[in-house]
Amino acid sequence: MNRLTECILNKNSSFLPIWFMRQAGRYLPEFRKIREKNQNFIKLCLNPDLVTDITLQPLNRFNIDAAIIFSDILMVPYGLNQKVEFKKNFGPKLGNLDVDAILSINSREFINKLLPVYESIKKVKKKINRQNLIGFAGAPWTLLVYMMNGESPKKNFDINVIKKDISKTEKILKKIEECICLHVDKQIEAGANVIQIFDSWAGLLPEADIENYCLRPTLKIVEHIKKSKVPVICFPRGIKNNYENFCSAVKPDCISIDYEIDPKWIKNKAKGIPIQGGMDPKILLTEEENIKKNVEKFIRIFSDYPYIFNLGHGVLPQTKPEMIEYVIKISRELKK
Ligand code: CP3
Repeated sequence: MNRLTECILNKNSSFLPIWFMRQAGRYLPEFRKIREKNQNFIKLCLNPDLVTDITLQPLNRFNIDAAIIFSDILMVPYGLNQKVEFKKNFGPKLGNLDVDAILSINSREFINKLLPVYESIKKVKKKINRQNLIGFAGAPWTLLVYMMNGESPKKNFDINVIKKDISKTEKILKKIEECICLHVDKQIEAGANVIQIFDSWAGLLPEADIENYCLRPTLKIVEHIKKSKVPVICFPRGIKNNYENFCSAVKPDCISIDYEIDPKWIKNKAKGIPIQGGMDPKILLTEEENIKKNVEKFIRIFSDYPYIFNLGHGVLPQTKPEMIEYVIKISRELKK
């Protein structure tokens, strides 16, 4: 069994699997080189040769335990025929959301648009052996936010775009849920042996809406994935104390924590569910001594608990690759 699978499914805490969210990305010069020549990000995500190369870049440098397929959560809206562009210094920009058009897309059409993603997974799978291969999707809420808001909610978001016509929202949400399930199934069929669900914007939800827009839709996805026996990691970023309710309501195979979560607190609240991540990616921008102190803190707290080393969000573009190397070195010294 690969190390993530063994840790998650057998709750084995005798070793430490390691990988990093956004381990393939702008902090790597070899990624920037490919990216410079490929200005269209969606097109890049649909190029199986380049996706394979980019996915393997961090594995060629570091002793890590998983590859995560280089793609994006916004490939699902793309598969639904919503226009998606990544603008320089701005981020994603999505086209008008035509509800009837989206509802009329059938599974075959959706899957056909995303075939190169599955093709890439097959290619990566052939090149790795020891490592897990992680497939992923955005959670329904996070995709709903991008699709209805048209851009990142980081700078500009009004929950009324979602609340003003609930019946329209519910229709879109249901379609998104179906497509996430299809997308995950195809990734598993192609060779992904762990799935991570990113709910990056769960923290935008008012307390009263967490149940309806985060817990309930994510539970549906998780129950669907569990039928395949492939472990599912959930990352409901920013939901603070609701991490506890999330664990009891959704029961993911593994819970990924963000850097606002106190690792000791979650260890007591997760009811034995394996835990991943937590360290603030900004720590990697500081000096080695401080990095060491923080890495050791996480490893010590979870020494007797199934734990996957990762960060509390993606690697920041300003990170020096040597610091990732350093984290791996000191982690492996403490726990193989
Ligand atoms: O060169 C570039 O500018 C590309 C940067 C980049 C994006 N996606 C654009 C993006 C990269 C490297 C990715 C890859 C990606 N995205 C992966 C690859 C695998 C890996 O190494 O982890 C994954 C898993 C994702 C998933 C993803 N995309 C998430 C979770 C989100 C939501 C926001 C977040 O950061 O949690 C996205 C949206 C996204 N992709 C944004 C950008 C610029 C928008 C960020 C925002 O909304 O502010």
